[in-house]
Amino acid sequence: MSDKRLSAPALAQMKRAGQKIVCLTAYDYPTARLVDAAGVDMALVGDSLGNVVLGYSNTLPVTMEEMLHHAKAVSRGLSRAMLVVDMPFMSYQPGRQMALENAGRFIKEAGAQGVKLEGGAAVADRVADMVSAGIPVLGHLGMTPQSVHVFGGYVKQAKSPQSQEALVADAQLLQRAGAFGIVLELIPPAAAARVTEAVDIPTIGIGAGPDCDGQVLVVNDMLGMDERFSPKHSRQYAQLHEVMRSAFSEYAADVRGGRFPER
Ligand code: KIV
Repeated sequence: MSDKRLSAPALAQMKRAGQKIVCLTAYDYPTARLVDAAGVDMALVGDSLGNVVLGYSNTLPVTMEEMLHHAKAVSRGLSRAMLVVDMPFMSYQPGRQMALENAGRFIKEAGAQGVKLEGGAAVADRVADMVSAGIPVLGHLGMTPQSVHVFGGYVKQAKSPQSQEALVADAQLLQRAGAFGIVLELIPPAAAARVTEAVDIPTIGIGAGPDCDGQVLVVNDMLGMDERFSPKHSRQYAQLHEVMRSAFSEYAADVRGGRFPER
């Protein structure tokens, strides 16, 4: 485990210097190594693990053990990038003590530099407990996927002036509780710009426009790993599903045709 990784103060400094923060999700060791080598600032083991790697239909079934398993693999691949791990659904909602103990596991067992959890006022006490215990916390506001059933789908949030006021208030509350940054997901760009202006801590956007202090993408989406799914807010920098499928087909044809292995 490296002590040379970036951590929360480095991101704060980047915001002050007007330097954009680059973040990608990662779920395994080889991807973590490449993310790190590319100079990405933060690797997030998101609970999107559930959708994009484990084949669940949403993030809700993801467990602490699954997150830890993948976080440890990612940790082994990082030298410079900060490692932040998502707290899965029901690992922090039921109570403060449970939340603190589970957050501590990501720091102790996976060597993370921080944890992320979803929500504003409802989780501010948990954020404060974690920060007091020495655990850096990244907040997450807007379209928080663990509330998919409350929202009735992955739909844009903070569209009305009242909900934008509430969003800004939540962001300020998270800042007061000691969060080192906030992910803003699927909200109007103008709302993200308002939040970014209203807090001193960095905002990291996904589907939240260009005015956040940094950006995060789900690595499988930006690599085009799933031909059935390409979210509007993402951008495909590769179509890896094509490369992989054609490699698998070529291999199958070679084995069946006796061309691999060679005599
Ligand atoms: O789970 C995840 O990957 C996330 C990002 C989309 C921010 O929370």
